[in-house]
Amino acid sequence: MIKYLGSKRTLVPRLCELITALEARSVIDLFSGTSRVGHALKRVGIQVHANDHNAYAATLARCYVQADRDELLADASRLIAEFNRLPGAPGYFTATFCEQSRFFQPHNGARVDAIREEIAAKALPPELEAVLLVALMEAADRVDSTTGVQMAFLKQWAARSHNQLELRLPDLLPRAAMGKGSAHQLDALAAVGVLEADLAYLDPPYNQHKYLGNYHIWETLVLWDKPESYGTACKRVDCRSRGSAFNSRPESAAAMRAVIAGVQARHLVVSFSNEGFIARAEMEAMLRDRGEVLVLAHDFKRYVGAQIGVFNLRGEKVGTAGHLRNTEYIYVVSDSPAALDRLRPLAAAADALATASP
Ligand SMILES: C[S@@+](CC[C@H](N)C(=O)[O-])C[C@H]1O[C@@H](n2cnc3c(N)ncnc32)[C@H](O)[C@@H]1O
Repeated sequence: MIKYLGSKRTLVPRLCELITALEARSVIDLFSGTSRVGHALKRVGIQVHANDHNAYAATLARCYVQADRDELLADASRLIAEFNRLPGAPGYFTATFCEQSRFFQPHNGARVDAIREEIAAKALPPELEAVLLVALMEAADRVDSTTGVQMAFLKQWAARSHNQLELRLPDLLPRAAMGKGSAHQLDALAAVGVLEADLAYLDPPYNQHKYLGNYHIWETLVLWDKPESYGTACKRVDCRSRGSAFNSRPESAAAMRAVIAGVQARHLVVSFSNEGFIARAEMEAMLRDRGEVLVLAHDFKRYVGAQIGVFNLRGEKVGTAGHLRNTEYIYVVSDSPAALDRLRPLAAAADALATASP
């Protein structure tokens, strides 16, 4: 899967444990990002409805949550083999992300251009197209020259950027026992009005850094609209106009309150960092309207960028991060006291051990 800030890679086993203990048969993943949470839940048989407002994330969800392996495996494998044989043909991607900026080496940029044009030319059914776009996104991610965000590229080429781009089949899963999953590209505030499940998992952004700005290249690769760009990082111009209430200090608490009040699910599981806009006491107060709240605390190393240091937009190191660990809280609220009782031993263990390091 792609490198992604705030991805719940190390929390996935704990989230699966909690969600299965609550006996949820269907789950809304309202801020799905890489879809690794939805993917893990689908693997244990749960029906997942994934949502994210960015197109690249909705594409990841269509591949990992909605698409079912048995229906797509043969076509996807054949097309991946075909695309891996395509010679490079430099175009928009190479000019923008290898020449005007230096996110990828030109030999890999030319392969991205060739493969992306071929995907467009084939006008594939949406799920098959999503699988191929994810294969291409992940292949490009393996040869990029960043610290994991696309605000800046490294001054010196990353060692991996010299490798040859190669598509691999994404880890498609068979249809979940509880039913087919779905992928949606809506603002969370609108999605709560249309999606319904036993449980909702909420993992909103914590701060002002927009995911669109951090992953603008994936948005451009998926939309293939060849937009005007600006700045050293060649961001798409709509990074300036597309926003999220969850990235705004004055708006985030009201947006979170609206989502918590409106989401159509009996159980809620919320991930939020101690470094975010909403403090633990405020989050607990918001959730209490829906029932008793349990909180599990997990101590983490901060994201890789913070480990490496602080960089300016030219990719030069200009400082070190203030601290290297943060606490991730998992809040659980349910209208069923019996369901919460099943979680109490897990909550006690998590708080006592302050577990998990990436
Ligand atoms: C912390 S990340 C989720 C990470 C995800 N759980 C994972 O493990 O990969 C937050 C996600 O919320 C999405 N997002 C931000 N504002 C949103 C909004 N208003 N509606 C829907 N999605 C939003 C971002 O695009 C981002 O992918």
